[in-house]
Amino acid sequence: MPRKNLTANRAALAHRARYALRHPGRVPRFLLRAGRDAWLRFRSPDHVAYYRAVMKSDTAGSPEAAVGSRSHDRWLALGAMQFDYLASHGLRPEHRMLEIGCGNLRAGWRFIQHLDTGHYYGIDISPDILFAAQDTLVRQGLQDKRPTLTPVRDLTFAFLPDGYFDVVHAHSVFSHSPLSVIDECFAHVGRVLSPDGWFDFTFGRTEGEEHHVLREDFYYRTETLVALAEKHGLSARFMDDWEKLPHGQSKIRVTHGPGRAERPGTGARPEAAGTEPEADAGPEAGAKPKAVKAVKAAKTAKATKSAKAAKAAKAPESSKTAKARVAD
Ligand SMILES: C[S@@+](CC[C@H](N)C(=O)[O-])C[C@H]1O[C@@H](n2cnc3c(N)ncnc32)[C@H](O)[C@@H]1O
Repeated sequence: MPRKNLTANRAALAHRARYALRHPGRVPRFLLRAGRDAWLRFRSPDHVAYYRAVMKSDTAGSPEAAVGSRSHDRWLALGAMQFDYLASHGLRPEHRMLEIGCGNLRAGWRFIQHLDTGHYYGIDISPDILFAAQDTLVRQGLQDKRPTLTPVRDLTFAFLPDGYFDVVHAHSVFSHSPLSVIDECFAHVGRVLSPDGWFDFTFGRTEGEEHHVLREDFYYRTETLVALAEKHGLSARFMDDWEKLPHGQSKIRVTHGPGRAERPGTGARPEAAGTEPEADAGPEAGAKPKAVKAVKAAKTAKATKSAKAAKAAKAPESSKTAKARVAD
């Protein structure tokens, strides 16, 4: 099983050649993927349309493989890993949850089971995987929980209400996304996030050069994503304890930045306040705005911003104890 390789540039020719020599059996499959990549890029120049076509093709083979699990046992284990982590990091039944890129509900069915009726909202760019998600729902007998499963064209969340979701979750989505898609998500996710809400996402991490393999797998430095979140007024921190789990990606938690409490008309749901024990809320979060206080908060935020970004970005060495790592 793959381990985290934090320095490789998988797009480099030398890396590819070495990889092919070490794993000759994997070359034909890669060539097939490369051929499909070229064809789909020609037909679908924008990334979302491209990746939707990838998912259509993969889902036709096997929905579980399409979300990255090569066996049903791995599908169950990966769903359990996501659920257990989130449940031990603040997810409660009364929370309202938005899952971005919910796939065929690998983790989603566990979230739906845990949450109050109607509190789960799953979105995905692939109608094909959403059909498979409906099959999962039926298999698990969760119809009465009335989750919402909706296809989307982008990550602007324009059709969703302000300040509604306590928890937003995206597993193995940004690992398949160019920076423009992540930027769009960060630009809009704050609007739908409740005041004390949080957004957890995984990403393919590199400590070397940022790169991508075909248009399918993307690798970012932690500081790139932390800085991008901050550009949109969000706070981001690296989740160290996720590194101990046998998973090939890393995790970041995003919350509202310190300026959020001062912005009027953001549709905050005050009753949801104080729900997240680990939220990175500063002392000003939730305070009623007064001009002096707002200026002070802005100054403090500015002064601590670079130090905080550096701290958040200083990801630890990958867990040497983790034996079995998986990519998705
Ligand atoms: C590797 S699968 C993971 C699915 C699910 N999160 C899980 O852990 O089982 C990635 C999913 O994200 C979806 N996806 C990719 N890019 C997306 C985007 N920009 N917006 C919404 N969904 C996206 C794909 O269609 C696919 O279902």
